[in-house]
Amino acid sequence: MSRDAEAMTPNAMLTGLLAVALTTPVSTTARETPRINHSSAGDRAAEKAFVDALLAKMTLEEKLGQLNQPPGVGNHTGPEAMAGNEDQIRRGEIGSFFGTHGVELTCRLQKIAVEETRLGIPLIFAYDVIHGHRTVFPVPLAEAASFDAEEVRIAARHAAVEASAHGIHWVFAPMVDIARDPRWGRIVEGAGEDPYLGSVMAAARVRGFQGDDLAAVDTVLATAKHFVAYGAAEGGRDYNTAEISERTLHEVYLPPFKASVDAGAESIMAAFNDIAGVPMHAHRDLIEGLLREQWGWDGVLVSDYTGIMELMPHGVAANREDAGVLGINAGVDVDLVSRIYYEDLPAAVRAGRVSMEQIDASVRRMLNAKYRSGLFDDPYRYCKDPAREVALTLNPEQRAAARRMAQKSFVLLENDNATLPLSKSLRTLAVIGPLADHRQSMLGNWAVAGRQEDVVTPIEGLQAALGDGTRLIVARGSGVEDMDASGIAEAVRAAEQADAVVMFLGEHPDMSAEAHNRTSLDLPGVQEQLALAVAATGKPVVVVLLNGRPLSIGALQGKVGAVLEAWFPGVEGGNAIADVLFGDVNPSGKLPVTFPRNVGQVPTYYAHKATGRPPREEEKYTSKYIDVPWTPLYPFGHGLSYTTFGYDQLAVAQAKVPVGEPRQQVSVRVTNTGKRAGDEVVQLYVRDDFGSVARPVRQLRGFQRVSLQPGESRTVTFELGFDDLALLDAKLKSVVEPGTFTVFVGGDSDASLEAKFEVVAP
Ligand code: BGC
Repeated sequence: MSRDAEAMTPNAMLTGLLAVALTTPVSTTARETPRINHSSAGDRAAEKAFVDALLAKMTLEEKLGQLNQPPGVGNHTGPEAMAGNEDQIRRGEIGSFFGTHGVELTCRLQKIAVEETRLGIPLIFAYDVIHGHRTVFPVPLAEAASFDAEEVRIAARHAAVEASAHGIHWVFAPMVDIARDPRWGRIVEGAGEDPYLGSVMAAARVRGFQGDDLAAVDTVLATAKHFVAYGAAEGGRDYNTAEISERTLHEVYLPPFKASVDAGAESIMAAFNDIAGVPMHAHRDLIEGLLREQWGWDGVLVSDYTGIMELMPHGVAANREDAGVLGINAGVDVDLVSRIYYEDLPAAVRAGRVSMEQIDASVRRMLNAKYRSGLFDDPYRYCKDPAREVALTLNPEQRAAARRMAQKSFVLLENDNATLPLSKSLRTLAVIGPLADHRQSMLGNWAVAGRQEDVVTPIEGLQAALGDGTRLIVARGSGVEDMDASGIAEAVRAAEQADAVVMFLGEHPDMSAEAHNRTSLDLPGVQEQLALAVAATGKPVVVVLLNGRPLSIGALQGKVGAVLEAWFPGVEGGNAIADVLFGDVNPSGKLPVTFPRNVGQVPTYYAHKATGRPPREEEKYTSKYIDVPWTPLYPFGHGLSYTTFGYDQLAVAQAKVPVGEPRQQVSVRVTNTGKRAGDEVVQLYVRDDFGSVARPVRQLRGFQRVSLQPGESRTVTFELGFDDLALLDAKLKSVVEPGTFTVFVGGDSDASLEAKFEVVAP
């Protein structure tokens, strides 16, 4: 900032700068960039004045350029692509990029936008920062398993700090889609099956990315995606239609978006699916109607990759222009990849199919985003510091956070006869399975900036924890997917020579995430056969699962000693696994999603509706199967510890609660009844016993993580209010109805300790 500028008051300076920048005559030579004072970045009136003035100067093509977001240079290689991008920027055809990062590159492109376009409007750079940037954290499903919103916020904060140091202003995260069908590969990208947990995690991630001050140089715009009901893809087939009721939309799929909006999310991405025949990229009622009018949200709605163009194969647009008209009129502001807005909307505007007000509204939101990011203050603020980029990449603090997040995300599914923790004084340890040294499985999918060389593998982690005193005998045993069982004999021999065995089994990262759907939830290939053969040696066998979805691993129950769900744990995964296997850290994660016994049970989730014939063992004509039990393999919320916890003294503060002011306090005593210190995630579920419409059998309404020493007790208190007790009535109005409610408290969704209270009419 110049000395003259420093001497001016923010408003005087803003007015002065606007006058300079916005009265500049049209030409194609280098321009004075519009500038604002940093301190006015949170001032909505100043923002509006600035954007109004800028909009008034823009041609239709310049406006549509702002709404055009191509994949960046990172997605196309070669000098030609680079030059093509640069020319497009020069011509004002591009308002933002996605997939481009690095201070050198983003600054170079920014300079073209700022110095070589007519109005000098800065570019904004978006990127898929899904679970960390270069410091890859556990996949989002794993992070949700921590049931630790503060740790998840911190993980997103680290991601924002690192990504912003690499020139990124805007992240395409958090993914907040509720997923109740584990066949759907994208279940790995979200927080699992539950709207309450999903909402808490969504808000934590938004706050982590955006921090307290969007104009700070280490915060990024968050994008809640994919709006909406993408997780309801029929048959678990990605991009498929979502066949859901209005009630399910409002009760299950919308709440995490509302929580994101309430947490201040500046951006939302549209989903690829349709709802009741209306593709989300053309869904005016839900975008303009619900998001903007009802919820009062004023952020940027970005299309998904070619989402505008896909309105043609959806069968609702006959050509590109129709697709663009549907998209912009529905309120989709930014056209990702299709280039339809830029190329085809001018004709539509001239023909009166799209109003200039509609275009201006979208451009305004895009310019607001740039304003809020401080880019009109200094377009180079995220890219001008190469030293910062180095210092904030994979530094010890970031690695420590990734390790802590991983430790908290692991879920101990089985631990017969205290097989875990293992002793560090084992003489020999067999390490078996296709994923023991698989670097990509530590990163998982959507680790776009992640690098395999940054990873600590399980073998490296084990060796580092054990030192030279223990000999590792390594045998692969089988591949992940191939059906070749010839390596099993060698694996069995390795197990026979060892004091204990750790097996690394599961899915490789390309078996979940986008477009990676499965019709089986079994361990792929011959891995189950491998595990059972190794277990038959009688040695203590621990299975560590690395995977991105619930797996039906019932065949291992009672055969192997312990099963630890480690998901795809990030760059520090190998160390975190060793921390937990040897008991330096007591596992405390809980399942954010139900594990079915087999794929035929899908969808199975704890908050299912009550039916007229609830399943009962002794009654034939009740809602169940004849070949497997109706219950899941592991319920939502399940997760063991190396210690045990007891619950008692459950109490509600009031036996009767007035319907007009439904407040309740629930307390319970939790005791560490074992011999080790540990964390327990205390879970509170609520059931509305009788309502005007059928209700879920129970719904998560609170959770708290408590750390307890052996023998220590703590009383945990939960507050319940209107939203926790409300239902949507037949007209989808949120109401609390008189009648009895049951609360259940415990360590998983099967919690049986219960208390009742009554909501009473005046
Ligand atoms: C995905 C989005 C992602 C976008 C950009 C799409 O295919 O659905 O989640 O943000 O690509 O990479």
